[in-house]
Amino acid sequence: MNDAAKVLDGPDLAIGIPLSRVADGAMLLGHAQGEQVLLARRGNDLFAIGAFCTHYGAPLADGLLVGDTVRCPWHHACFGLRTGAALRPPALDGVACWRVEQRDGTAYVREKIEVRDPQPLPVQAGHPDSVVIVGGGAAGNMAAETLRREGYSGPITMLSADASRPCDRPNLSKGYLTGSMPDESNFLRSPDFYEKHRIDLGIGVRVASIYPGNRLVLLADGTHHGYGALLLATGAEPVQLKVPGSDLPHVHYLRTVADSRALVAKALASQRAVVIGASFIGLEVAASLRSRNVAVDVVGRETVPMEKILGTEVGSFIRKLHEHHEVKFHLGTTAVAIDEIGVTLQNGEHLPADLVVVGIGVRPALALAEQIGLATDRGITVDEHLETSVPGIFAAGDIARWPDPLSGERIRVEHWVVAQRQGQTAARNILGRRERFDAVPFFWTEQYDFGLAYVGHAERWDKAELAGTLDLETRDCTVTYSRGGKKLAAAFVHRDLDGLRAELEFERANKGPTA
Ligand SMILES: Cc1cc2nc3c(=O)[nH]c(=O)nc-3n(C[C@H](O)[C@H](O)[C@H](O)COP(=O)(O)OP(=O)(O)OC[C@H]3O[C@@H](n4cnc5c(N)ncnc54)[C@H](O)[C@@H]3O)c2cc1C
Ligand code: FES
Repeated sequence: MNDAAKVLDGPDLAIGIPLSRVADGAMLLGHAQGEQVLLARRGNDLFAIGAFCTHYGAPLADGLLVGDTVRCPWHHACFGLRTGAALRPPALDGVACWRVEQRDGTAYVREKIEVRDPQPLPVQAGHPDSVVIVGGGAAGNMAAETLRREGYSGPITMLSADASRPCDRPNLSKGYLTGSMPDESNFLRSPDFYEKHRIDLGIGVRVASIYPGNRLVLLADGTHHGYGALLLATGAEPVQLKVPGSDLPHVHYLRTVADSRALVAKALASQRAVVIGASFIGLEVAASLRSRNVAVDVVGRETVPMEKILGTEVGSFIRKLHEHHEVKFHLGTTAVAIDEIGVTLQNGEHLPADLVVVGIGVRPALALAEQIGLATDRGITVDEHLETSVPGIFAAGDIARWPDPLSGERIRVEHWVVAQRQGQTAARNILGRRERFDAVPFFWTEQYDFGLAYVGHAERWDKAELAGTLDLETRDCTVTYSRGGKKLAAAFVHRDLDGLRAELEFERANKGPTA
């Protein structure tokens, strides 16, 4: 919980508040029993839940009420008002929930409602006798947790090639790399969590092959695991730069906790870095290194950073933002060689560096899928239930290409929240729910004190319209991306509520005219 939670704001809801102060559809921040409470009203119903998001501590009072849920303003987690349960990631844990009593036109927040962990259900018809999850990232971890939340009582095995337990990857290039967050903040859960929920977590374990006929996965160490249902959540791997010197020890990539620890250790001893790649990872790394006072040059093939994803206006602003922080850009070019003291560019220029970070994109980790002949198309092709071309094998996260109801196209994205939500849906479908994956893609980026949230998916657009202001002094805008007159996505700067409303609007469009 963030520091704001320690200061008790708003009225004392335990001594009562006139109902007239909480309009239908409104939320009010108050406190009860020494804790901050969010009071929300839906018609005649009043709900009281914890006031801060369990993800990174956003104030839920700034979020959006949708039915009997509230959505978090920062990264769009969703909590149920009736129980406080975390219904949608990135929040993994629910918030507290209090009983509200109404008497004579006054609402009183009473005792906390105890929310019990779901009871394991006896293995049911249609449930697999065991589940193996290949991958311990956003999608894999969420799938394992969801299986237990849904009461699945069979064995769950999660196998991860990473050397550490499931981590908060977005934190690796942001809070942890800037030094504002401790090492422990990198992990989604404690080791005890997996033990308590009987999730058999294999760390540093690589699956070498799969035998769908025998329902077996074979590990690189020669051991094997049988499965009733299989989820592939192998994510993506950084594209390797292949130039002379790219294997030198001061050349770093960033995907895992081990990568991030190595980068932090090196940054502490470095004066000058060259970041190769001017997209999200490269620019977040550049910003974080600047906060450690490392001088940074950024090299990118594009002429405007992130132009392809966010358009010229946002891209130009991001360049200015970094330049304001004394980052030097070398765009429309690339590195042709690296040596112990720097990086040589195409035009022969040599940039001095004692640290080089390569962030030139990722490739979905498809080797296992291809080996067993799953249908692939620059990702594993899945249906709307996230099932692959082989029944009983599901795929989720950065590797999955799914039919996106909004664009009508098959898309694959590399976003944290999408991977988690796919893990959630895949888990339910492993249990036979036949739930359609129709979540609206969402991502965010943070660089210095600048944050941007993006809702929807526009791989190509013919119009990017900026409403508001985006310059170094004033950052308050919405950028709408559309093609052929159809709105496909929107980006928001300092407009959290508009971002939530846009998500809802896209969701309704996904569900069709009756929604
Ligand atoms: C530094 C960084 C910052 C990011 N910041 C953001 C952000 O701000 N916002 C955002 O939306 N997205 C962000 N992303 C992207 C986001 O983290 C990914 O989209 C997300 O992690 C994808 O989840 P996943 O489960 O598909 O794959 P991953 O999280 O990559 O997990 C894949 C797992 O599969 C395992 N694996 C692979 N092959 C095998 C095998 N053969 N056997 C066993 N295990 C295997 C890996 O070890 C790993 O455990 C960031 C990514 C990085 C690297
Ligand atoms: S702080 Fe609420 S979703 Fe991130």
